[in-house]
Amino acid sequence: MTQTLFITGGAGFIGSSLIRHLMANSDYHLVNIDKLTYAGNLANLATVQNNPRYHFAHLDIGDRAGLDALFAEHRPIGVIHLAAESHVDRSISSAGEFIMTNIVGTFTLLEAARAYYAGLADAEKANFRFHHVSTDEVFGSLGAEGFFTETTAYDPRSPYSASKASSDQLVRAWHHTYGLPIVVTNCSNNYGPYHFPEKLIPLMILNILAGKALPVYGKGDNVRDWLYVDDHALALQVVFEQGKLGDTYCIGGHNEKTNLEVVHTLCDLMDARFATDAALALAHPHCPAAQGKASRSLITYVADRPGHDHRYAIDASKLADELAWKPQETFDSGIAKTIDWYLTNQDWVKQVQSGDYQQWLEKNYQERK
Ligand code: NAD
Ligand code: TYD
Repeated sequence: MTQTLFITGGAGFIGSSLIRHLMANSDYHLVNIDKLTYAGNLANLATVQNNPRYHFAHLDIGDRAGLDALFAEHRPIGVIHLAAESHVDRSISSAGEFIMTNIVGTFTLLEAARAYYAGLADAEKANFRFHHVSTDEVFGSLGAEGFFTETTAYDPRSPYSASKASSDQLVRAWHHTYGLPIVVTNCSNNYGPYHFPEKLIPLMILNILAGKALPVYGKGDNVRDWLYVDDHALALQVVFEQGKLGDTYCIGGHNEKTNLEVVHTLCDLMDARFATDAALALAHPHCPAAQGKASRSLITYVADRPGHDHRYAIDASKLADELAWKPQETFDSGIAKTIDWYLTNQDWVKQVQSGDYQQWLEKNYQERK
């Protein structure tokens, strides 16, 4: 029997990884519900777009009538909800879209799912679940010690994390109040292929290639816990299929790095790539490595992000112990794959670096000077 899943935000960074993963590792039919904001890109799904199990619905999750029609047409056995505004710096300069999509959009999706669920037969109800995908940023900021776990109290500090915290709590409220079957995951920072280059790792890779300044906020001593995106996709499938209803699972890679460590690693790996591949210098003549210089020379300390959370780190032992998930990639293997992907996918890079994104980048640089 056909089992259909709704994936919201499937044209984004993590959503597209999840769709590629489920196409290869499940029999689900997938309906990708995506508004295609600046961060949504159907090119991320080029490898699956002709698969008869893949369907695209160009829709805002705030469109209740559109959602109702999709639920009636496809009768999904579940929803994995990733659609969101996701960039902290954007949330600081313009929070409105974060409130509309992350909070009001999640509310609208919950209401549509609740109405659909109410109309299901008992056997179908037993199979249905709503999986809300969230971030560790809802827990606030850690000092030098300790980890976030499923029982850590919420303490969001940026407009982005406050909007995600709000959506997490709405999802839990719809479970407790209306009996909607839900699971929630809170994941640490992801990196990997198809990452929009406003985020630290792809921004630095592309700026090194172009010989542009590498803007490190503050002293570069903030710590993030990095997880390769395909490991997140695997964890989402495991939790969606086997997670306990009503529960929360933290997902993380045990890869804590300061931002400066990350930037140094990227600079050094890029220099090593150029040293062994003469074609790279011809393709990227502005890269310091093409001129015999160290890429670290591009590092530029800029004004700190307002309210910059100091450290995030996840204890993912519940997911490891109960559902036997563990990451496949180390930071070294994942970052090497990521650099290779950006070096070999320059057409994708050129496409996403056009238009609206350029204007945003300029504005963000001006604000940080
Ligand atoms: P992204 O910004 O790359 O993609 C977001 C996607 O959602 C895009 O395809 C966009 O078009 C779509 N979208 C935005 N608003 C929409 C709307 N109103 N209706 C329908 N679609 C809409 O984000 P990402 O990095 O892939 O993150 C996906 C999810 O995972 C988010 O919920 C985010 O909070 C969460 N998360 C991200 C990270 C991370 O490191 N990137 C870590 C943990 C959790
Ligand atoms: P980012 O990739 O935006 O993810 P998040 O804010 O969700 O953790 O940023 C990761 C870290 O890198 C964060 O501490 C801010 C820092 N950062 C810089 O130092 N320079 C930059 O240009 C960017 C985009 C981020």
